[in-house]
Amino acid sequence: MAISLNAHQDTLEVRNLHASVENKKVLNGVSLTLRSSEVHALMGPNGSGKTTLSAVIAGHPKYVVEKGDILLNGESILNWTPEKRAQAGLFLAFQYPAEVPGVSVSNFLRTAYNQLQPKERQMPVFKFAAMLDEKMKDLQMPSAFAERYLNDGFSGGEKKRCEILQMSILSPKIALMDETDSGLDIDALRVVAEGTNQLIRRTGLGVLLVTHYPRILHYVKPDFVHLFVQGRIVKTGGMDLAEELEKTGYGQLEAPVADAPEPAEKAAKKTKAKQPA
Ligand SMILES: Nc1ncnc2c1ncn2[C@@H]1O[C@H](COP(=O)(O)OP(=O)(O)OP(=O)(O)O)[C@@H](O)[C@H]1O
Ligand SMILES: [Mg+2]
Repeated sequence: MAISLNAHQDTLEVRNLHASVENKKVLNGVSLTLRSSEVHALMGPNGSGKTTLSAVIAGHPKYVVEKGDILLNGESILNWTPEKRAQAGLFLAFQYPAEVPGVSVSNFLRTAYNQLQPKERQMPVFKFAAMLDEKMKDLQMPSAFAERYLNDGFSGGEKKRCEILQMSILSPKIALMDETDSGLDIDALRVVAEGTNQLIRRTGLGVLLVTHYPRILHYVKPDFVHLFVQGRIVKTGGMDLAEELEKTGYGQLEAPVADAPEPAEKAAKKTKAKQPA
C-alpha cells in the first residue's frame, strides 16, 4: 500500500457565503471545498468578487459576512481574527502587496514567522537569516533584498516574488494566491510556480489560485478550475475550462446569473480526472 508523505489532511470549506463591503453586496453564495495538495483555480471577470472572497476567507475586518460559513477542518472560523486564521495555517498572497517603508524584508518575515511558531521554535536573527538566505536562493532573489524595506520601490514582479518568499517561509496549510502571476515575466513565473509546486509536494499545501490567464496553470496544475461571476461560482471544470475561457472571453456571461450552480466537486468529476502533480 502506498504511504503518502503528506499524511495530514486539511480542509477549507466555504459554505453558501454571502458578503458585502461598504454596503455593497459582492459575494452571492460561494461554495467551495479545498483540501490539502489540491489546486483550485478561480477565474472570472474584473469586479466579480475574487479578491473579496480571498479577503473574507483571510478575515479582513472591512468585509461583512451576511450568510453562510467558512470552516477549517470542520470548525467555523468566522469569529476568528486574521492572526488566528494565519496561525491555523491560512495565508493570503495579496493582489496588491502593501509597501512598508521603514521595515526591512528580513525583519518583517522574521517577526511574521516567529509569531506563528510556538516559543521553542522561534528563531534568533542569525538562524533566521540562514533560512531566509536559502529560501531566497530557491526563488532566485538577490540577497540584498533582505535588507530593503518591504516592497518599497519594488517592481511589480519583485513584489509578487516577495509574496511567494513569505509563503515559503511561513509554510501555510492553505494559500490564497490572488493574481500572483500578474506582473511576473516568463522566467519569474516559472520560479514562482516551482516554489509553489515544491510546497504542494513537500508540505501538502492546498492552493486557491486566482488568475486571469491559463499560463500559470500550465506550471501549477489545477485539479479544479472555477468560473466566478457576480459573486459566485457558476461553473467548475478542469484545465479545458481555463483554455475555453481564454478563447471565448466572458462576453456571453454578462446577463445576471439566475440558476444555482451545480455543486463544484460534482461538476468537476464529470469533466476531468485529477491531474498528476
Ligand atoms: N472597499 C470597497 N469599497 C467599495 N467597493 C468595493 C470595495 N472593495 C471591493 N469593492 C467592489 O467589490 C467588487 C468586487 O471587487 P473585487 O476586488 O473582489 O473583484 P475581483 O474579482 O478581484 O476583480 P479583479 O479581477 O479586477 O481583481 C467591485 O465592484 C469592487 O469595486
Ligand atoms: Mg482582484
